[in-house]
This record gives sequence, structure tokens and C-alpha cells, in this order.
Amino acid sequence: MTDLFSKFDPLIQQRETLLATGVTDPYNLVMEKVISPTVAICNGRETILLGTYNYMGMTFDEDVIAAGKDALDKFGSGTTGSRVLNGTYQGHKECEEALKEFYAMDHAMVFSTGYQANLGIISTIAGKGDYVILDIDSHASIYDGCAMGNAEIVAFRHNDVEALEKRLKRLPPEAGKLVVLEGVYSMLGDVAPLKEMIRVSKENGAMVLVDEAHSMGFIGEHGRGVAEAQGVLDDVDFVIGTFSKSVGTVGGFCVSNHPKFEILRLVCRPYVFTASLPPSVVATAATSIRKLMHGSNKRAHLWENSKLLHKGLRDLGFTLGTAEAQSAIIAVIMPDLEQGAMMWEALLEEGLYVNLARPPATPANMTLLRCSLCAEHSRAQVDEILGRFERAGKRIGIIG
Ligand SMILES: Cc1ncc(COP(=O)(O)O)c(C=O)c1O
Repeated sequence: MTDLFSKFDPLIQQRETLLATGVTDPYNLVMEKVISPTVAICNGRETILLGTYNYMGMTFDEDVIAAGKDALDKFGSGTTGSRVLNGTYQGHKECEEALKEFYAMDHAMVFSTGYQANLGIISTIAGKGDYVILDIDSHASIYDGCAMGNAEIVAFRHNDVEALEKRLKRLPPEAGKLVVLEGVYSMLGDVAPLKEMIRVSKENGAMVLVDEAHSMGFIGEHGRGVAEAQGVLDDVDFVIGTFSKSVGTVGGFCVSNHPKFEILRLVCRPYVFTASLPPSVVATAATSIRKLMHGSNKRAHLWENSKLLHKGLRDLGFTLGTAEAQSAIIAVIMPDLEQGAMMWEALLEEGLYVNLARPPATPANMTLLRCSLCAEHSRAQVDEILGRFERAGKRIGIIG
């Protein structure tokens, strides 16, 4: 018998080697108590959270929590059904209405996760014989959507407009083409040149899908994302998003102005063949989305935090993923996985949680400490974060 697990041996070996150094397992952390969007108890210690993607800090918003509790009381704990059978409640419709208003678009479809939104939309609209042209650093859910739909994948160099154009020009003019882009790329926190990319996509007859998972709620005047900030939202055919970041709960969605969009509810397998979100979740999401429409003060504060942290870390001598703060993600580049894991642990001992990202999930096989800021981080917390980075960085020898 061939052990089907033998393919994992290199990963098991890499993990064992890392843990043998005595470092804490970075993928096994437990949040014992969560005090606020920015503070939790981990390993019995009060810890500042700097790796949650909870950009707008909506998880503890009073109105959001009240809406969830009310829906739990009135509609029960779950729908026990698909959106196309018994799983569409009033709350799902209200959530879709809130999204349509938030984006000023005609159609909105709520999925159980953002992963399923990409999986569902991409696999349903791009099938065998169609082409999906995507940035090589695209999220796993985008690649999985392509694989599920059986479309031909054409990858181009990260954020390279010329490479995208070259690939598009090589494809048969009459073929179905979907260009898939992200507003903010979550590994380095860099923003896509959507304006130019969407222009060349349209010139070459492609439809465009933009995943705004890491920009919704924060970037753009109304928080609609990078496409809004660059003035090209009207040219985007499909916007994908998630409730698991700025919205502060779980779920995913697609919004669009395509006149035939509603047919997707009958043919999109990751929408049809799974249970819908619990009533409490859609109620919290709808309330949060409506509040985010009026979140300009929070957006301004989050930009301040992001710029402050970026400058502070750069001045301390850390190598960062972008020259300037482009989003609420600041990636600190580590020399290798071992030192990255040691630095991650040293920060945790200081009472600071960040995400450790390692190959193969990262671009160019980098090890990254990914920091994501929250609109609820105070100025004092950002100063404290910088102090903890300085102490840990000196102790591990990453900075002098
Ligand atoms: C770009 C991007 N798209 C989609 C997703 C999936 O979102 P969800 O957590 O709702 O499944 C993520 C989550 O990390 C993401 O970063």
C-alpha cells in the first residue's frame, strides 16, 4: 500500500526541524480571552493584537453585537439549509441590500465565506475553454476557483501591467477571458495598479474581477476599495469581498452590475450546495456594513496608524515589504524561517501578536512578519508596538 501521506514528508521534516530548535509553534496559538479588537490574553499574558485583519475593529461594536444577539433570539442559531432551499432568511436579504447600497451596485450575492465567493464566482463564469488571467501572487481561493472551473490559467508577474497586456494579446480574440486582480495583496500589503490593469483588460476584451478582501471598509472615499480609490469601480465587472476582515464576522460576497447576475444563484455550486450563514452572522454583517458607510473618521485614523507604524519600523532598521504604507498591512521581511520564528516568539513574549508567513504561501520564498493595523489601535498602542519590536529585534539580532 502506498501511504498517501508520504507527499507531506518534506513539510513534516521542515516542521520538526523548526520545533526542535525549541521555538513555540507559531501555528498553534490559542487566544484564551479576547478583550477588545486590539487586546487578547495569549499564554496567560495580555497581548496587543497586530495580526487579525480586523481593520475597522467592528468585532466589539455595540450595535453589531446587539444585532447578532437579537437575530439569535428571533431566528435561532442556524438555518440548516442552502440559500436556494430553506436557508434564505430575511437577514440574508437585508445583508445583500446593505452590500448593494455600500457599493452602489445592482446585485449582491452573499456566500458562507470569501473563499467560497472566489471559488464559486470564478469556477461558474470561467469554464473549460475560457481563460483566467491572474496575478501570480493571487490568493489560494482564486487559484482553486480556476481549477474547479477547469479554465485555462494564464499567470503574469506580480503587479506588472506590461506582462498582463502581453499575455492578453497572445490569447485568441474570440475566447472568453476573465482578468482576476486583488486591490491589496495581503502578503506584502502592496496595492495593485488597477487603473492601468483594468484599461488594458478592457482594451483586450476581458471581463474583470477584483478581490477587495483587504481594502473594503478602509481604502477609498466610501471604503469600497482600491478600485474606488483609483476611480475605476464602474469598470469592474465583479467585486469579491469577505466579512472576515473589516466587517468583523465571517462570510463572503460578490457585487456586480451585470444584467444576468442573478442566474448565478442557480448554477454556482459553492452557493447552492452548502448551508447559508447563521442569522446572527448576517445580522452582524449587515449592521457592520451599514456603519462602515459612515466610517470616514475611523478610516483616517487607520491611515495614521499605518503610516506611523511603517515609519517607526523603517527608522528602527527593519526591512519592509513596501517603501511607503500602502494599506493597513505592513510586512516585515525576515532573513529566514528560523530567525522569523524566533522573532515571532520574541514578540509574543513581549506581548505582541503578529502573523508569521512562510514559504510556499509567500512571494519569492520570503519569511514575513505580517502586521495588520486596526482603527481601534490607539497612538499609545502603536508606540508600545514599536518599543516591543525594537527590544525583540535587538534580542534576536535582526536589527543592530
Ligand atoms: C485576497 C483574499 N481573498 C479571499 C479570502 C478568503 O476570505 P475568507 O476568510 O472570508 O474565506 C482571503 C482571506 O484571507 C483573502 O486574503
